[in-house]
Amino acid sequence: MIKYRKEYKWSNIGAMMRNLQREPKICEDDFKGRFVVITGATSGIGYAAAKKFASRGADLLCINRNEEKSKDLCETIRNEYGTQCSYLIADFSKLTEVHSLTNQLMVLDRNIDVLIHNAGVYVTKKTFSGDNLEMVFQTNYLSSFIINYYLREKFLKQNNGRIIFVNSEAHRFAVSGLYLDDLAWEKHHYTGLKSYGAAKMAQLLSMIKFTEYFKDTDVTINAMHPGNVKTNSGQNNGKFYKWMKSVFIDKTAKSPEVSAEALYFLGVSRALDNISGKFFNLTTEEEPAPPAFDKEEAEKLWLLSCELGGIR
Ligand SMILES: NC(=O)c1ccc[n+]([C@@H]2O[C@H](COP(=O)([O-])OP(=O)(O)OC[C@H]3O[C@@H](n4cnc5c(N)ncnc54)[C@H](OP(=O)(O)O)[C@@H]3O)[C@@H](O)[C@H]2O)c1
Repeated sequence: MIKYRKEYKWSNIGAMMRNLQREPKICEDDFKGRFVVITGATSGIGYAAAKKFASRGADLLCINRNEEKSKDLCETIRNEYGTQCSYLIADFSKLTEVHSLTNQLMVLDRNIDVLIHNAGVYVTKKTFSGDNLEMVFQTNYLSSFIINYYLREKFLKQNNGRIIFVNSEAHRFAVSGLYLDDLAWEKHHYTGLKSYGAAKMAQLLSMIKFTEYFKDTDVTINAMHPGNVKTNSGQNNGKFYKWMKSVFIDKTAKSPEVSAEALYFLGVSRALDNISGKFFNLTTEEEPAPPAFDKEEAEKLWLLSCELGGIR
């Protein structure tokens, strides 16, 4: 029997289908001299978002796993837009690297105006990291949790700033919520869609707690679906998956510039002032799937994430 089954509404699926056809709202404001931190900016949505924010005058700090790509990215940003671009290296599938990253982020001497958690992977075969954690859970969820956990006091001191999760409509694949007692997928059959959906659902559950933490401040935290866009996502998988993706998904996929436009709107537009804890399909607010509202699960996940993430 499906947990939460009574809370599911067909009207929400209808709304999602309609929203998937929409274009993002456009923000015309500039962002000169403001400071934006983006994870996974070397490709796809993160790359397009880095260019969009820089084109409107923002300085960037990009958090990537690849040094060469990071150098190229920053050179492009400086040459094309004349704004500052620096980078830090961290592989999100390695806890030690994420902890050393957070140590550097906590002592940044600039206020972070917008933090975009974008880095992510899609993995069709069950894989474990060197920390013995399921790869998608660690890369797509746990690392963003650790970064947020340690940066939350910096944001509180700033008393402003916007945090945005590049999430996904795929969180809906976690139909019965998370299997917190089976994060290694030993009792449940693993598929790429299920692990990906679970990691995105975990991010939405963490948003409940972070939203509470930032209540009564000018710090906001929201999540968004960036559209179906053509990127390098899934290129780590086998030939069959890549063929399927090129035939069935990429044919109708849009340009990641659409996602960048939406991220710019969510990060900059005054229309988002004081809006927190919400899920957007591009720039349209939408109700996420019922498990994303489960406060008890959010509480359990928080404690488990601290434990698994090595947070004392
Ligand atoms: N594309 C879509 O239609 C779609 C739809 C819904 C949600 N999303 C979400 O959008 C976000 C961006 O994905 P994308 O589609 O733009 O894919 P992408 O082109 O593959 O970009 C992913 C980014 O994440 C980085 N990354 C991957 N693994 C990492 C790790 N272990 N440590 C640090 N960085 C890592 C990649 O670095 P490298 O350049 O070194 O590989 C790259 O910069 C993801 O969170 C994804 O789940 C995408």
